[in-house]
Amino acid sequence: MRVVILPTEQEASDFAADFIEKLIIDKENAVLGLATGSSVLLTYEALIKKYQSGKMSFKNITTFNLDEYVGLKPHHIQSYRHYMNRKLFNHIDIDQKRTYIPECFNKDYELSCENYESTIKSLGGIDIQVLGIGTNGHIGFNEPTSSLSSRTRVKTLTQNTIENNSRFFKDNETQPSLAITMGIGTIMDSKQILLLGLGKHKSKAIAEVIEGPVSSFFPGSILQQHKNVIVVVDKHAASDLKLYDYYIHTEKMHQKYMC
Ligand code: F6R
Repeated sequence: MRVVILPTEQEASDFAADFIEKLIIDKENAVLGLATGSSVLLTYEALIKKYQSGKMSFKNITTFNLDEYVGLKPHHIQSYRHYMNRKLFNHIDIDQKRTYIPECFNKDYELSCENYESTIKSLGGIDIQVLGIGTNGHIGFNEPTSSLSSRTRVKTLTQNTIENNSRFFKDNETQPSLAITMGIGTIMDSKQILLLGLGKHKSKAIAEVIEGPVSSFFPGSILQQHKNVIVVVDKHAASDLKLYDYYIHTEKMHQKYMC
């Protein structure tokens, strides 16, 4: 696992955006796995700037989002489709027909999940999956005790996740308690994974992901078993890492000999 610690949230997000840009330059029809939430926002802003300055194009890119709330129609302001359009897709030259998000408004959820898996496969799999981490360890909406080999399916959200995400919902809005999420097995099939952790409130989760035991009780810890993972954090999110100095040193070595 490559661990990159940068002084600020902005620098960590710029690093993530540069990393994605390089991948797209190498493979112009790359398949990106995307996340919603706060951790990825500055990265999306940086990608939009790169597009606007003519540095990169998303014309041939396909995207698959990790998850979507059950019951919210795509035009609902809290749906992840709405979030992705607002925060990224409406500002770049991506073909929106190639931006996939689990379909949660069609009642045959099982079929939606099967279709999601087969579409990912038919397009050659995900080249890079971008992840945030929940304070309870979830990746996507794979809550604690999710099967480590799970596939795309409906998941019941924990109270912790509902409370953490309640900040996005107005008082009179009903907050969904179910979501369709890519499974942990689906995420682990990605060729490369980039996890972003920003802020002091993520420091314990980041330490568990990198240094904790691998356990379904903390789903993000499974990333230790993936051979191509990069974790990008600011210094506050890194502050609970036992081997903090070692990661700073290894990244210096990486920059010197591998870049
Ligand atoms: C979002 C997702 C979640 C978030 C996680 C962190 O699509 O799948 O796993 O990445 O809840 O959320 P933030 O970044 O808002 O702290």
